[in-house]
Amino acid sequence: MFSNPTAELKPDYASLGHQLASVLEGERDLTANAAQFSAFIYETVADLNWAGFYLVKPAKNPKADQAAQELLVGPFQGKVACARIAFGRGVCGTAAAERRTVLVPDVHAFPGHIACDSASNSEIVMPVIKDTQLFGVFDIDSPSLNRFSEEDQLGLEQLLAVFIAATDFN
Ligand code: SME
Repeated sequence: MFSNPTAELKPDYASLGHQLASVLEGERDLTANAAQFSAFIYETVADLNWAGFYLVKPAKNPKADQAAQELLVGPFQGKVACARIAFGRGVCGTAAAERRTVLVPDVHAFPGHIACDSASNSEIVMPVIKDTQLFGVFDIDSPSLNRFSEEDQLGLEQLLAVFIAATDFN
């Protein structure tokens, strides 16, 4: 049914948390762990078409009336995506600006949604925050409408917390 037969629509997030901790054990490098985390989510959670990071970076063309920082695509699984996203723009920029998880059951109904992959129909974006500092967001897209429940949100936030605790950001 799905490209990866081990992926599940309703994964056991507690068990995935243990698996993820062993995958990341012994390595604290940001690029390595972010790549592993993206692959782990894409492999274990079914019905996704994109999973990956946008990281906070200095703005490429900073203007006086705009933020000095923006989001730049980082390690991910899926099709080629938009490289840079301004704070406050799209689902990713909203999650970054408001420092909260944004769950979108239907991306076509989200004002300002940035369509990187036309296959995406629902999306969840979680902020990556360590010691009160925002380092980026983790974005997951699904080709199905209403793919992510509140239970998924809690489970995915727990997995992201395992990644954050296992990784050095500076
Ligand atoms: N849809 C996102 C853009 C990133 S892609 O989905 C990978 C957004 O609206 O921020």
